[in-house]
Amino acid sequence: MGVTVTGFDAATASHEDFQELKKLVHTEKIVVLKGQRLSPAAFADLGRALGTVETYYQAMYQHHEVPEVFVSSNVPKEGKQVGVPKTGKFWHADYEFMPNPFGLTLIYPQVIPKGNRGTYFIDMAKAYEKLPQELKDAVEGTSTRHSVKRYFKIRPSDVYRPISEVFAEIEEETPTVTHPTVITHPVTGERILYLSEGFGIDMLDADGNVIGDELLNRVLEATGQLDETCGHENIHLQSFEEGDLLVWDNRTLIHRALHTTRPEPTESFRVTVHDDHPFYEGIAA
Ligand SMILES: [Fe+2]
Repeated sequence: MGVTVTGFDAATASHEDFQELKKLVHTEKIVVLKGQRLSPAAFADLGRALGTVETYYQAMYQHHEVPEVFVSSNVPKEGKQVGVPKTGKFWHADYEFMPNPFGLTLIYPQVIPKGNRGTYFIDMAKAYEKLPQELKDAVEGTSTRHSVKRYFKIRPSDVYRPISEVFAEIEEETPTVTHPTVITHPVTGERILYLSEGFGIDMLDADGNVIGDELLNRVLEATGQLDETCGHENIHLQSFEEGDLLVWDNRTLIHRALHTTRPEPTESFRVTVHDDHPFYEGIAA
């Protein structure tokens, strides 16, 4: 999965180059730009050249100078935590729990661990193709509800608050959303299973009635998301080295961070972008 691009310079790239890059992400799913040396502001500019940048809704994840940059880090600066550590260690698509997710995720690792490094991916268009016909039939016409609540990270300010109050606040700020279980990619026309172990909470039939957990669990199992060893044939481990900047198709791919069990310094910056297309065909505007 994916392609490598060398010699890409965002500072001198033309409008056509950026269009070409987007096309490549839509068809190849992961594009690794090699040898990048970008400041946080230049990284955000690269995002803006690809579309409309989405700033993460929670301030604690934002870079202190460039809020469009989301910081995942366990490396303290001047003795203080920056960004949020251990993000995304569960299968998900970014902003899956929002009404209008973005099509492109850009990750730019800053401090790379020596040991386990990389991100796991599952191509959910390919996973859909491989489903037994009986499961394809079962999900047809259904929708899936998504919420951030299962993996919402407790903030320092939440200590000593009743958990019910925290849950109520999550539902208030990011109400549960419903998307079709199978979405159509607006550029490639692929049919994509749009659900994850992290954010998918239940499924609804065509009339909007909640279906029991069995179907959701069978789909999660069939796509490889319940394999805790991450050895399932659908799972691709994307490694990276210093200077790599990954751009991926956040419609088709779900991902899961690989975090070291031993505490090793790791930090990465993320910029997320709405490209020029609706997230999926028929999404409510
Ligand atoms: Fe993520």
